[in-house]
Amino acid sequence: DRCLAVLTSGGDSQGMNAAVRAVVRIALFKGMKPYLVNEGYKGLVEGGELIKECQWTDVTHTMHKGGTIIGTARCKEFRERSGRLDAAANLVKARINNLVIIGGDGSLTGANIFKEEWKGLLEELVRKERITQEEAALLPYLNIVGLVGSIDNDMCGTDMTIGTDSALHRIIEAMDCLVSTASSHQRTFVLEIMGRNCGYLTIMAGIAVGAEWVLIPENPPKEGWEESMCDKLKSSREKGRRLNFILVAEGAIDQENKKITTSDVKKVIDSKLGFDTRVTVLGHVQRGGRPSAYDRILGTRMGAAAVQTLFEAKGEMDAFMIAIRGNEMTKLPLMSCVETTKKIGSALNERDFNRMQELRGSS
Ligand code: F6P
Repeated sequence: DRCLAVLTSGGDSQGMNAAVRAVVRIALFKGMKPYLVNEGYKGLVEGGELIKECQWTDVTHTMHKGGTIIGTARCKEFRERSGRLDAAANLVKARINNLVIIGGDGSLTGANIFKEEWKGLLEELVRKERITQEEAALLPYLNIVGLVGSIDNDMCGTDMTIGTDSALHRIIEAMDCLVSTASSHQRTFVLEIMGRNCGYLTIMAGIAVGAEWVLIPENPPKEGWEESMCDKLKSSREKGRRLNFILVAEGAIDQENKKITTSDVKKVIDSKLGFDTRVTVLGHVQRGGRPSAYDRILGTRMGAAAVQTLFEAKGEMDAFMIAIRGNEMTKLPLMSCVETTKKIGSALNERDFNRMQELRGSS
């Protein structure tokens, strides 16, 4: 039997369970033996009970749940070669050489390193007599497919990542709740929105609720922005609006690359306008709760496409990432997506916004 394992790694996101479920069920449908790896890469490194063969019913009633039922972790051991050696030994014991990794760019980079080292790791395991030559010969390569599970929507190559749509729902639900209290007191609310170095959630939430001002890392505000923002807030109050919303991405920066925080923004409003202002940090609420229909469907489609890709491989294949582009599932070279994402991060640090646009256009 061809065996396949799936794990979730890094920060959780809504819709990961739909992806895990689809991987398990499509694998069974195709005649592959699926395994669940619990607790992310920690499960691969520690093995034992954390790597379990899985049946159709093990993933029943999981689609509607938030988070990941198989657990996730940011695993330090897997970043070291010694951890990856243990992981390889555990996979060889279970005869698994197909992996579906659901995580962010860090987790997918780790998977690719593991794949590239595979032959060397097996040779070392044979030398150390942890596995036999015969066992090593059964699994001469490791095939991997990555799915991006992240609320941040920060990976190049895919229009959406699993979890982003649910997080947006969470944000606008919270903002709809704030509207009544903000309006009663005629208050200004400054909200911090997650997304690491990506402003996608902030800008989309801003559009969805009609925020007056957004601050995102990709477009640091021009000098004097404080005045412009206050003019805007004042003018909307003068037009009869009883509240204001300002959204600050957690990665927001100014022209000098200095972080702009919600409390910086509140201070500006306090001192320039004297409006009654409150700060709300939505935090991990954004990553919690049930997945939206979109994320359940996206996770299912991506999970199915991942298994299809591994199933069709006739031998060793390059690492792929499953992406959605124009509502079509497509497989892209994993490392070029990760590398372009990292280059965009560097261009952002260097505030080279033209280069950022160029890289976006090419991905
Ligand atoms: O990548 C998802 C994310 O929620 C980011 O938006 C945020 O910056 C980070 O993870 C928070 O990480 P942690 O859950 O480790 O606090």
